[in-house]
Amino acid sequence: MKRYITTPIYYVNDVPHIGHAYTTIIADFLKRFYTLRGDESFFLTGTDEHGQKIEQSAQARGKTPMQYATEVSEKFRTLWDEFDIDYDHFIRTTDDYHIKAVQLAFSKMLEKGDIYKGEYEGQYCISCESFFTTTQLKEGRFCPDCGKPTSEVKEESYFFALSKYQDKLLKWYESNPILPSYRQNEVINFVKNGLNDLSITRTTFEWGIEIPSQKEGEKKHIIYVWLDALLNYVSALGYGGSEERMHLWEGAIHLVGKDILRFHAIYWPAFLLSLDIPLPKKIYAHGWWLNEGKKMSKSIGNVIDPKKVSDEFGNDVFRFFLLREVPFGQDGDFSLNALVDRINSELSNDLGNLLNRLIGMSEKYFSLSLSSNKAQEFFPTECKELENTITQALTLVENAHFHRYLEEVWKIFSLCNTMIARYEPWSLMKNGESEKTQALLVFLCNALYKGTLLFAPIMPTTAQKIADSLGIEIAPSEFKKMIDHHSFKEHFRIEKIAPLFPKIEKKEEKVQESKEEIKKEENKTPQIKIDDFFLSDLRVGEVLECKNVEGSEKLLLFQVDLGEQKPRQIISGIAQYYNPQDLIGTQVCVVANLKPAKLMGIVSEGMILSVKDENGLKLIIPQEKRKNGSKIG
Ligand code: MSP
Repeated sequence: MKRYITTPIYYVNDVPHIGHAYTTIIADFLKRFYTLRGDESFFLTGTDEHGQKIEQSAQARGKTPMQYATEVSEKFRTLWDEFDIDYDHFIRTTDDYHIKAVQLAFSKMLEKGDIYKGEYEGQYCISCESFFTTTQLKEGRFCPDCGKPTSEVKEESYFFALSKYQDKLLKWYESNPILPSYRQNEVINFVKNGLNDLSITRTTFEWGIEIPSQKEGEKKHIIYVWLDALLNYVSALGYGGSEERMHLWEGAIHLVGKDILRFHAIYWPAFLLSLDIPLPKKIYAHGWWLNEGKKMSKSIGNVIDPKKVSDEFGNDVFRFFLLREVPFGQDGDFSLNALVDRINSELSNDLGNLLNRLIGMSEKYFSLSLSSNKAQEFFPTECKELENTITQALTLVENAHFHRYLEEVWKIFSLCNTMIARYEPWSLMKNGESEKTQALLVFLCNALYKGTLLFAPIMPTTAQKIADSLGIEIAPSEFKKMIDHHSFKEHFRIEKIAPLFPKIEKKEEKVQESKEEIKKEENKTPQIKIDDFFLSDLRVGEVLECKNVEGSEKLLLFQVDLGEQKPRQIISGIAQYYNPQDLIGTQVCVVANLKPAKLMGIVSEGMILSVKDENGLKLIIPQEKRKNGSKIG
């Protein structure tokens, strides 16, 4: 079977964090799992490098978008290498073959009659690179997805006829391609509510792929970053070029976070339908990692650094915890205490101790050399239980129940531990039942072998250590024998190894800044990212009217021309410093996207900037007059 596993391609305006690591580690697990099962597997990851957000972030750092994208893309690649992520290809959307593929796809959609020219008027969230209608926004023009302020966009644009594909999409969902199913239901409801055609080009910035058939005298159209990005999944296989890996497409499994499911489950299949490319096999949508129930954010200082966790506890442990702790699809809280609990119970007690005891007993009773063909004969019920557990575990992977998969695999180790307690090999030996003891130890080796094959895609290093100790091999041929055919091995030559997971004492959470550090930070002016600064819409405007607010000694009521259809009404507490008449005709600086507020019953739609010291207060005024509404930045 063919398996083509993809992660989202990551924006290069952020350094890799636990959310990115989570998606990538699940994809890595699937790649290794299917490879071990003998499937032809291919794993794609990479970086999403175009768009307004990246252009702004690069500008703010005084870099070209390409320099900036290259630097951050490198950080992602390095981290995945440090995490031993077994990707087959790392794509950058600035790669030539990708650019060609995107332009080809655009031309094909145009030829098909799915693209037409019009004018887009609506709201745009730069952070999500996503369009919204005013009715979709949260009150006060905030993005319904990330909560940041949106900007108004009115520009010439090419549109993709998304609405045309509504029925075909609904038909596709009947084959249950999206897991978990509650996420699929959300998508179906969204589509049933009606789809609007999608604006797929922008003209107000530069950093992106140009449309292929730019007409003479036409404004420069840049392809919408999501159309560009989604096409990575086929351009990486050679779409529009060598096509050398396109045969893998039939096994496509996309792993995505719930926040970007809409793009993958609605836009992407519609684009594919337009291009006459078959639809992906599965889309798995995972939830979000939170820290104590809160979204992680740099400004609060509660971001979990995956590298720190992995450096402290080991890569395998980190991977195991991410997959085991939270039911796939749901949000999860990251807690170091929970991580330590899992190390001490499941890894150290259930697995590590089992191997130790097995090594100990093999050495004591059989000089580390075991041989028996009677394991199944002595323990038929336990053999059946082992088989059933394995069969059950395998179906769980197909249904994206990764945490339950691990739970099931651990039942194998519980079975082994229960058998030791029940049959007491030391008593058997005392009673002269050496044959049964040896059969028991061989059973335990087989069970451990099978369990290790099953968790090897999650903890490859640990699996290799156990393989070295039991003299076994982690390979597709062995998987076939031991897992698919339920074979039993009769001889084991055991090597002694150091304990796998020494117990750990609980300590304070260390992977984030300490509470005191956060407090200290809170008392200082917090640092913000340039993207946060760009969230403020600062503009120059001319004071058309200014008067005192009745009943207030402090407040002045302004009407300011910001180049919009009507003047803004703004209240400012500067009456002690200025005579209102003197300000008429002056240009002032205004925060134009403040949520409107009421002062003394009057609505104020912005804030006028001023500076104050011991000599009093002064308005901030442009050195020379500028057009009303000009952006400050
Ligand atoms: N560039 C787009 C994807 C384009 S795919 C054609 C993008 N990039 S992203 O870098 O912002 O996000 C990538 C992934 O990280 C998403 O799947 C998102 O859900 C995931 N996560 C970001 N923060 C997360 C957590 N705190 N927890 C889990 N995953 C989260 O979107």
